[in-house]
Amino acid sequence: MNYIDTNKAAWEEAFDHRRPAWTDNTLLRLKSEPFAFFDSDLKDMLKHMDFHGKTVAQFCCHDGRELLSLMDGGAAHGIGFDIAENMIAHARDTAEKAGIANCAFHAYNILEIPEQYHSQFDFILFTIGGIIWFEDLSLLFKKVSNCLKDGGVLLINDFHPMVNMLPLPGEPEYNPDDLHRVVHSYFTKTPWIDTGGMGYMSTLEKSKTFTSYRHKTSNIVNALIENGLTITRFEEYEYDIMIETQVYEGVGFPLSFILTARKGNTRLCGATLFKKEGEDEGYCKPRPLSYRGCRQQAAGVSLP
Ligand SMILES: C[S@@+](CC[C@H](N)C(=O)[O-])C[C@H]1O[C@@H](n2cnc3c(N)ncnc32)[C@H](O)[C@@H]1O
Repeated sequence: MNYIDTNKAAWEEAFDHRRPAWTDNTLLRLKSEPFAFFDSDLKDMLKHMDFHGKTVAQFCCHDGRELLSLMDGGAAHGIGFDIAENMIAHARDTAEKAGIANCAFHAYNILEIPEQYHSQFDFILFTIGGIIWFEDLSLLFKKVSNCLKDGGVLLINDFHPMVNMLPLPGEPEYNPDDLHRVVHSYFTKTPWIDTGGMGYMSTLEKSKTFTSYRHKTSNIVNALIENGLTITRFEEYEYDIMIETQVYEGVGFPLSFILTARKGNTRLCGATLFKKEGEDEGYCKPRPLSYRGCRQQAAGVSLP
């Protein structure tokens, strides 16, 4: 078995042993909270996008709750892909119970999503803990690029590569009195092997083997470039939604990020997900003046 197959078995086992609280309130929250399963910055960004008439996908969609809540944005169709068959069955069941008929779920290894899904999506989403299950990010983003329409947008919200350097609670090196200490190399290529049960969502203490990969920021950036995906926004945050790293909030480390990238050249493609004409992924933040702009302003030159 390769690492993808062993991860499939481990994720299915974890989901079979999920904590009741992991899925119990999903329906209620889907019905009562718009974009219920996203953190505030991501929610903000998603609310500024116009999904009406668009086809959206989530890769590594887990039990489907995030994609189902994204459908609040008015997308015409949604498709969630995840390798774990029990999660996909659960996602279909949740969609049916929630009455969300325009959202489908399919069990595939992302790298093997069939060609019928190529050039189909205006938007592809990865959320926390999505991209680490792929050893070769270039292969992953090749599939993303193939599945996006020209001008389509990829959004990744994940934990920051910096987090890989920090000792987590439960590890011998972790010291709550010395939270500035980094212990792991940023450059390590050793896969992360875990048989500890995915305690954040399952009740297992000992589990089948999970294998994940620590990617540097440059790995992510270069894999996007290699596949014709132009970065349009990169935000870093001091908070994370990984329970283990919350102890580091406010210490000064970047703990999570949101990145958007567009298939093709942003200046040349007409398609946009953003609501106002001319508004791109810098959606609502004041733009800092470019160096040239600052010099012109200092010299009394008016800017267009
Ligand atoms: C940490 S979870 C993502 C959780 C998501 N952020 C959420 O909160 O719902 C990672 C997901 O990736 C899926 N996965 C791992 N390897 C995969 C692969 N090769 N292809 C598709 N899905 C995969 C797992 O089944 C799991 O649902």
